[in-house]
Amino acid sequence: MTPIRLHLMLGLAWLVAGMLLGEHMGRTGDHGQMPTHAHIMLVGGVLPVLWALVYRTFALGQGIFAWLQTGLHHIGAMIMIVGLYLLYGPMAGDEALGPGLGVSSMLVIAATVLMLVLAARARTSAPAPD
Ligand code: HEM
Ligand code: HEM
Repeated sequence: MTPIRLHLMLGLAWLVAGMLLGEHMGRTGDHGQMPTHAHIMLVGGVLPVLWALVYRTFALGQGIFAWLQTGLHHIGAMIMIVGLYLLYGPMAGDEALGPGLGVSSMLVIAATVLMLVLAARARTSAPAPD
């Protein structure tokens, strides 16, 4: 397992889950979970697939910082998605979920900053030869 593969597999899995939630919203006419759907698709799915492509295209390293970036993103995304699902359920309120959602945002932001650092440290900004 590499950070690239973990990003790709978890990202694609979130895309399937988010589409199922979208299909549920469309079928029932209840769009209350729209913010959850939007963040499953984009934070859970699109960003990790994008990160996998960026790692590969620009030949970014697969060392400890790549694992840290991957871990921070997916732990943050998981907390954010579960929190949003409960919030818009609505199964719990702002008081209970706010701190967790705040932490999840910080994790996703930290993962994105780390991505910026990894990209800046990359030896080349050109695509990998193969
Ligand atoms: C099976 C596929 C999908 C279904 C059935 C579906 C269904 C829905 C539904 C019912 C809404 C609510 C629309 C509204 O109330 O105005 C919605 C919103 C949204 N969907 Fe999907 N969706 C699907 C795929 C996607 C994909 C592939 C993405 C992005 C990668 C996406 C991103 C969004 C976003 C960002 C919103 C919020 C739009 C806004 O803020 O107005 N969806 N979707
Ligand atoms: C630190 C990470 C993030 C935080 C804290 C955050 C927070 C929020 C908040 C508070 C809203 C408004 C929800 C509402 O009106 O009920 C929102 C909406 C939205 N966000 Fe994010 N977001 C984050 C990351 C992202 C990313 C990375 C994307 C896209 C790649 C994104 C796409 C959207 C979209 C499309 C909407 C509109 C969805 C809707 O209308 O329900 N967000 N976000």
